Formats: sequence, structure tokens, C-alpha cells
Amino acid sequence: MNSFQRILNSLLSREQPVAPTTTPLEFTTLSGGVMPENYLALAKQRRTIYALGKDLPLPEDDVVQTIQDAIKQAPSAFNSQSSRALILLGNEHNKFWELVREQLRKIVPAESFHATSDKLDGFAAAAGSVLFFEDQGVVTALQEQFAAYADNFPIWSEHSSGIAQYAVWLALAEKGIGANLQHYNPLVDEDVQRTWNVPASWKLRGHMNFGSIQAPAGDKTFIEDEKRFIVAK
Ligand SMILES: Cc1cc2nc3c(=O)[nH]c(=O)nc-3n(C[C@H](O)[C@H](O)[C@H](O)COP(=O)(O)O)c2cc1C
Repeated sequence: MNSFQRILNSLLSREQPVAPTTTPLEFTTLSGGVMPENYLALAKQRRTIYALGKDLPLPEDDVVQTIQDAIKQAPSAFNSQSSRALILLGNEHNKFWELVREQLRKIVPAESFHATSDKLDGFAAAAGSVLFFEDQGVVTALQEQFAAYADNFPIWSEHSSGIAQYAVWLALAEKGIGANLQHYNPLVDEDVQRTWNVPASWKLRGHMNFGSIQAPAGDKTFIEDEKRFIVAK
């Protein structure tokens, strides 16, 4: 009997579908929280967390791997994989926020810079940043290869970036790591490119601060479903 027949026989010999005898397991995360038991629980757990610290609940290398895996598994138009990321930890993360601070110093009025600077201190208090880019070389190549869709590729590239950002946000949330999404681009683009030798074709689309959760997110409000959804059946 080959393995296919064995599996078939074992399925056919069951009189009833086997019902689960246990309730879903609850896992404790490294940060001590309860791991969400399904996708929607995880989606609810992902929030904008501004109060972040440097005590990551798992080793930096594991966090980097999580971020990379989340981006790799994210879908992209024509599987073009246009998303790129620069992952900064420790002093490199602090350096990023100093670059932002110096750019803002040039444009924010001196009398209000103190408040701006305090806000940046809050971001720098996180453990790391993921800078999300889209490789414009990939977009241009697709436009040339598939001229009929030329107008769509830049749009789909933006979609891909959004999906990659959300994927990372969720993956970090699942590990008990908090995050917030920021946009000091394009102000800081040239500094980033120069400092970390980022290819010129990489366009910065946003950057995510991540770290230990020092305080929970605030309440979140929702508009009425009637304004958002049309269901036809
Ligand atoms: C495309 C996009 C851009 C955002 N830009 C910023 C930003 O620049 N600064 C910021 O503090 N939050 C930013 N956010 C976070 C939103 O303010 C936040 O997701 C929203 O208020 C809902 O809260 P939640 O993330 O806790 O669910 C952004 C979110 C998205 C999806």
C-alpha cells in the first residue's frame, strides 16, 4: 500500500470527523502578554504605540529576521518584490533621529523647535527603525516590459509598500513589539542615502519605529459601518 492509499484509507475509516477535544491553546509571549489566537485578534493587537523603549523581548537578530520574513512574504504586483528595507538598531537608529532633528532644525521656527525636539527624543527612545523603500528601478523596468500597464506600476508599488509595512507591523505585534509609523521623508532622504549607502533607485516611503511597549495605545474610535461598507447578497 502506498502512502496515498494509507492516508485515503485512514480518512475513509473514520466514522466521524474528529472534533477538537481541547480549547485553543494560549501561548505566553516573550513580553509576558498573551499571544493572539487568530488573525483578527492579532489585527486588534497591532496599534500605534508611541511610548516605546529599547528592551526588546527577543534578540535583535530574531527581530531582524522577523522583519525580513514579513517583507519577503508580502505580496507585490507581478511578484515584482519592489519593496526594500533598511533596518536600523541601537546607535544607528539614534543616528537616524539625529539626521531628522538636524533637518527639522533648518525649517522649524526656533521658538517651537523645543517641542519638536522633545517629540523626536520620544521616537529615538525606541529600539530600532525599519525604513521602507520602493525600488524605482523595478518599477521602471516593469513599465518598459509591460507598456499596457505603465501607469499602474507606480500605484501598485505604493500598494506593495503599504502591504509590506502592515505585514511588518503585524509581525512585530505578534512578538509583543510595539511600533509607530512616521514620514520624515523626503526631508531626510539624501542623508539616509549618504549615511547608509542606500542605492539611488530606492525611494523612501515611510519608516517604522519599534521597541518595547512602555505604555499602551490610546482608545481607537471607528466610523459607522454603514458609511464604510456596502454588502450586496
Ligand atoms: C498610511 C499611513 C500613514 C501614517 N502616518 C503616520 C505618521 O506620519 N505619523 C504618525 O504618528 N502616525 C501615522 N500613522 C498612524 C495612524 O495615525 C494610525 O494608524 C491611526 O491613527 C490608527 O491607529 P492605530 O494604528 O493604533 O490603529 C499612519 C498610518 C497609515 C496607515
